Amino acid sequence: MLKRLAEKIEERSAVISVFGLGHVGLPLSRAFARAGFRVIGVDVNEAVVRRAELEHGLETTTDGEKATRISDFIIICVPTPLDENSQPQLTHLINAAETISKALSEEKFIILESTVYPGATEEILIPILEKTGLKAGLDFGLAYSPNRIDPGNRDWPLEKIPKVVAGINDECREIAMELYRSIINAELVGVSSIKTAEAVKLVENIFRWINIALVNELSIILSNMGVDAFEVIDAAKTKPFGFLAHYPGIGVGGSCIPVAPFYFQFKAEKLGLRSRFIELAAEINRAMPAHALAVIRRSLREHGRDLSGAVVAILGLAYKGDTSTTSNSPAVELAKLLAENGAKIKAYDPYVSEVEIDGHKLRSEGSIEECIADADCLVVATAHSLFKRLDLEMVKRLMRLPLIVDGRGVINPSACVDKGLRCVRVGGRDSSDGLLSQCA
Ligand SMILES: NC(=O)c1ccc[n+]([C@@H]2O[C@H](COP(=O)([O-])OP(=O)(O)OC[C@H]3O[C@@H](n4cnc5c(N)ncnc54)[C@H](O)[C@@H]3O)[C@@H](O)[C@H]2O)c1
Repeated sequence: MLKRLAEKIEERSAVISVFGLGHVGLPLSRAFARAGFRVIGVDVNEAVVRRAELEHGLETTTDGEKATRISDFIIICVPTPLDENSQPQLTHLINAAETISKALSEEKFIILESTVYPGATEEILIPILEKTGLKAGLDFGLAYSPNRIDPGNRDWPLEKIPKVVAGINDECREIAMELYRSIINAELVGVSSIKTAEAVKLVENIFRWINIALVNELSIILSNMGVDAFEVIDAAKTKPFGFLAHYPGIGVGGSCIPVAPFYFQFKAEKLGLRSRFIELAAEINRAMPAHALAVIRRSLREHGRDLSGAVVAILGLAYKGDTSTTSNSPAVELAKLLAENGAKIKAYDPYVSEVEIDGHKLRSEGSIEECIADADCLVVATAHSLFKRLDLEMVKRLMRLPLIVDGRGVINPSACVDKGLRCVRVGGRDSSDGLLSQCA
């Protein structure tokens, strides 16, 4: 079986189905199509399927069973979020596996790319596939390869990111690596077990989760010491080894960094263990929107204005710069807190048309100008490139009060001073008088 699959990869005659055409599945499908394979994009959402077909020229379907039947490789990229109790929600994975199992036959090869806890592929995916009577590693191939894309990061497209691959056995790992070799121009890192590859992804995300929490906490303490955390970090990162820069901000969002640590924690708890680091980081990171609220409230008060009734213009709703994703976005959480505290909020995000906050729609204004006109405070909540080039003269002209609270460290404080604006960085310096943003 595996020899024949290797030949099909070599000849580009292998047919590849990708389940889930989201942030991960869409670029992956396009990469395989560019490499010369016939790719079938599968999604349960009609609109997603239509868009992938119209905008990206992909062959797509909502019929996963049919796609599986005609495919050699089936790659699963469905969401693995948390439920309301921060527990893994694997229903999308289970549904995809059930669909695939209906058309599974010998000589097909299944690869999971979704983020899961160590052991999930073997405990959740394989039993569903083996209900067919076929055996993973013998009758059909099976591998796990975590996805590492960084949406919005133009320097590191999928093709340039080294890829970690594990198989249910050595042969399966080699075939999966052969397949990825056709699209990845970077190192392929084979690891000894699927569990190991599952853990690699979680550890990468946990590392960021904890380091961001660390700088968030240190930045507040440093500002009370009269020290600007941004200046400290920028100087510290000149050390050529042993330090990796992370920056404070209004919080951590998206479907990876605030989620993956709890997949790890779930499995740890099953073993009677827990990571205290993950819990502490959650406490700190989740409190950052409330900290930003306190900075805004205090800054407004210093201009003689109460938060209640003040007009606050929020630039950015997405969780991350130059992306449109709002899942777990701290910008949305901050908007919610501002509204709850009586502020009149307006928002502008070039990538997001609207978000829902407590059953109410918050619509993006048509432009930065419309958003900030007559505002008492401008809050930069997302590091979109457009906001890094903010026209400060226009800001000064249009706003009622000359106050910027920069939640992403993207506005140059001295340029603000030149234009007669005050810029308070969350976790950093206050441009007006050198006082630092001191909030507990
Ligand atoms: N977004 C990222 O930056 C990123 C990076 C690395 C890894 N991941 C991981 O990759 C996985 C996918 O994430 P994403 O961001 O692409 O999710 P997404 O929400 O952007 O897209 C997932 C797609 O899967 C579809 N889907 C759901 N159930 C399905 C089913 N049974 N069959 C077919 N399609 C189905 C959804 O309709 C959706 O279009 C998750 O495990 C995530 O944690 C995400």
